[in-house]
Amino acid sequence: MLRPVKVEDLKIGMYVTLGEQAHLLPLFEENFMITSEKQIVNIIDKGLALVDVDTEKSEVDVPVIEDFDQLDTISKKFRETIEDKRTPPKEKAKAVYDHSIEMMKHVIETPTHDSILSGKQMVGDMVDLILADDETADCLTQITSHDYYTYTHSVNVGMFGVLLSKAAFSDHADHDMRELGAAFFLHDLGKCEVPSYVINKPGRLTEEEWDLMRQHPANGERILSETGHLTSECSLIVLQHHEREDGTGYPNRLSGYRIHVYAHICALADVYDALTSIRPYKKNLSVFQALKIMRDEMISHFNRDLFEKFVLLFQ
Ligand SMILES: [Fe+2]
Ligand SMILES: [Fe+2]
Repeated sequence: MLRPVKVEDLKIGMYVTLGEQAHLLPLFEENFMITSEKQIVNIIDKGLALVDVDTEKSEVDVPVIEDFDQLDTISKKFRETIEDKRTPPKEKAKAVYDHSIEMMKHVIETPTHDSILSGKQMVGDMVDLILADDETADCLTQITSHDYYTYTHSVNVGMFGVLLSKAAFSDHADHDMRELGAAFFLHDLGKCEVPSYVINKPGRLTEEEWDLMRQHPANGERILSETGHLTSECSLIVLQHHEREDGTGYPNRLSGYRIHVYAHICALADVYDALTSIRPYKKNLSVFQALKIMRDEMISHFNRDLFEKFVLLFQ
């Protein structure tokens, strides 16, 4: 049986099976027994978080990673729910949403190669579901219209990002919808490096706190690159989701066509969720109130065509 092992827990006598990771360790065979400490140092130096170890072929005990098992269970539960044809769309949508939040919590708390990979697989399954099943997609729109806790923002923006992309792109085949979905979910990953007192501060941020906050797009891009997940979709969305149509955004004050359409989509989902979600320090707005403020007071921030398609999601 193959079992993932943290690279720092590797020992002489473990039988490593690299599989898809083989290209990351070109000096090693695809399957090999660890016979020296030097091999372990070489593996650690390559920056991998986990490698698979064959428990039967190993000559020493192979430890179990509890956190990984937890992730594995979440993914399994998620897949079962999606695949179960007897589950009504409303329940399916609720379960998909709840699992997504659990998964996002793991990804943001421990943004390693493997946790992001599990998260991306789950988002991929969710994207397939939204594209294939209109009824469940409608229910997701309703569920995602409320919600509240720390990780729900990522999930809400992820869901609305995919829903709006489905509405905006007539031919989904022109876009890698699964990668796109993953990028929407991960848009704020860089916030894990912004102190939580800044993230949760009820009042206005000081100039210093704003400087920290403005770093989250670049932080996110760096983490995704370090963990081997920086696709072009992620790069555009993570870096540009706070840029604004009229050039008033950050970090680069890009405007209009210089902002990628994926980032425009993410910005709409992001602002909408910020307005409609409950935070300890503010009231949440209804769908109608939020869309009205976005149209009357913030329209210069958004791509107009996309804003109109966004409004249609709720009709
Ligand atoms: Fe953000
Ligand atoms: Fe956000």
